[in-house]
Amino acid sequence: MKVIQCKDYDAVSQQAANEVEALLRQRPDAVLGLATGSTPIGLYEALVERHRQNGLDFSRVTTFNLDEYYPISPQNDQSYHFFMWKHLFGSVNIDPQRVHIPKGDAEDPDAACLAYEEALAAAGGIDLQILGIGNNGHIAFNEPAEYLRAATHRAQLTEDTIEANARFFDRPEDVPREAISMGMGSILKARRILLLACGEKKRRAVEEMLSGKITTQLPASFLNLHPDAILITDLEL
Ligand code: GLP
Repeated sequence: MKVIQCKDYDAVSQQAANEVEALLRQRPDAVLGLATGSTPIGLYEALVERHRQNGLDFSRVTTFNLDEYYPISPQNDQSYHFFMWKHLFGSVNIDPQRVHIPKGDAEDPDAACLAYEEALAAAGGIDLQILGIGNNGHIAFNEPAEYLRAATHRAQLTEDTIEANARFFDRPEDVPREAISMGMGSILKARRILLLACGEKKRRAVEEMLSGKITTQLPASFLNLHPDAILITDLEL
């Protein structure tokens, strides 16, 4: 995995925005895979800025988000739907028809997972996938486990992740315990992957990933199998 070391969070965000911008200038109808969490917020701010200042065009871009809590309403301000419209989609000229986020309010979540995989295939796959990493090495909601799932699926969150997410919810009992998540196979099919990792909390997971040992107990380690995965980090490794 290629590593780009940056001096701080802002430099990581700008570096990632450079990669996205280069792709969109070359391929205005690119398919982007997008992540939530606090890490990509700086990237999304940079993209909004470039849209406003330099006319970076999203009108023909298609997006697929990695995951969404389940069950959750898209109107809930903790949903990933809400997050994406707040931090990116609401401030650029994206066509809402081209935005895909797993449905946290699906009546039949298993059917929604299948439909998501079909939509990914119909779009021709992801050109550039943005990823964050959980403190425990999770990717999207592929948590450390005895086995991982290849395709989009219903995922149980680990106690670690529920605890890490609790800061965003008013009451601990409101923190969702399940999600719909792209699988490691769906993610590894992306033609290029940018993994953003910032802050000391991510050091253990990042160092274990870079050791090159592949284990389902550290889902990020599977990124070592990808031919064009880039880690952009502010950690001194
Ligand atoms: C959540 C998301 C992941 C994200 C992770 C890290 O669990 N499902 O996609 O990478 O959080 O979040 P943060 O960037 O806030 O550390």
